[in-house]
Amino acid sequence: MIIKDKNKAANISAMFKNISGRYDLLNTIMTFGRDKSWRKHVVKEASLKPNALILDVGTGTGKILQEALISNNGIKAFGVDFTLEMMLAGKEQQDNISWCCADALNLPFPDSVFDAVTSGYLIRNVTDIHRAFAEQTRTAKPGGKIVCLDTCPPPDNFLRPFILLYLKLVIPMLGLVFAGNKNAYRYLTSSTEAFKSPEELSLIMKNAGLDNIRFRKFMFGTISILCGTRPSLQRNFLS
Ligand SMILES: C[S@@+](CC[C@H](N)C(=O)[O-])C[C@H]1O[C@@H](n2cnc3c(N)ncnc32)[C@H](O)[C@@H]1O
Repeated sequence: MIIKDKNKAANISAMFKNISGRYDLLNTIMTFGRDKSWRKHVVKEASLKPNALILDVGTGTGKILQEALISNNGIKAFGVDFTLEMMLAGKEQQDNISWCCADALNLPFPDSVFDAVTSGYLIRNVTDIHRAFAEQTRTAKPGGKIVCLDTCPPPDNFLRPFILLYLKLVIPMLGLVFAGNKNAYRYLTSSTEAFKSPEELSLIMKNAGLDNIRFRKFMFGTISILCGTRPSLQRNFLS
């Protein structure tokens, strides 16, 4: 399933609205429960000190922030998403988060406020990746961390046919059975296949003004967590 760029944002939001009640369950089933450990890794990379301010963009049900609050309950957690229904589903489980309905490409926060800005499976969905990272960089304090968790295109090795089989057949079937929506999970597959490699994402993060960019892959190379630091020197992030 291909979502065309013209109406991409509206279509993406409608899709997440449709699966909001089942999103977390499907995530856990599809990843054999590994999703929690990746969120923990995101939080570890965010290097939060007591009283830190963290922003999670495309927060969905706020699971990354939930993990951050478990690791350090002195922090202040802010979640942004443009699909209200995803945040409402999360709010039922977690009310220690300040939720905000907004676009990742125009974050409604001033410059240099957050100690860390994280995202989980957001970047694959935005229409302008450079701008999304530039906005995250702008709102992070100098020295602040930007951490990005997302899927990767299947690696070019002997596992590729098995991974493709899982992505193309098993995942849409799980989507149909557990969320009643095969198309949303076909989109997960097609957007993952067409997505950028962590090496390409690193370059975009660098162009958005970040330093010390590194990444680690998980789950046979199908998941990556990238981390960068906003340098102390000011730059024009959106150019
Ligand atoms: C795959 S879900 C990920 C949810 C959560 N971050 C997680 O780790 O499970 C992607 C989320 O990003 C949101 N999203 C996609 N594009 C967005 C944008 N341009 N601005 C704000 N939120 C966006 C969607 O509404 C959805 O809730």
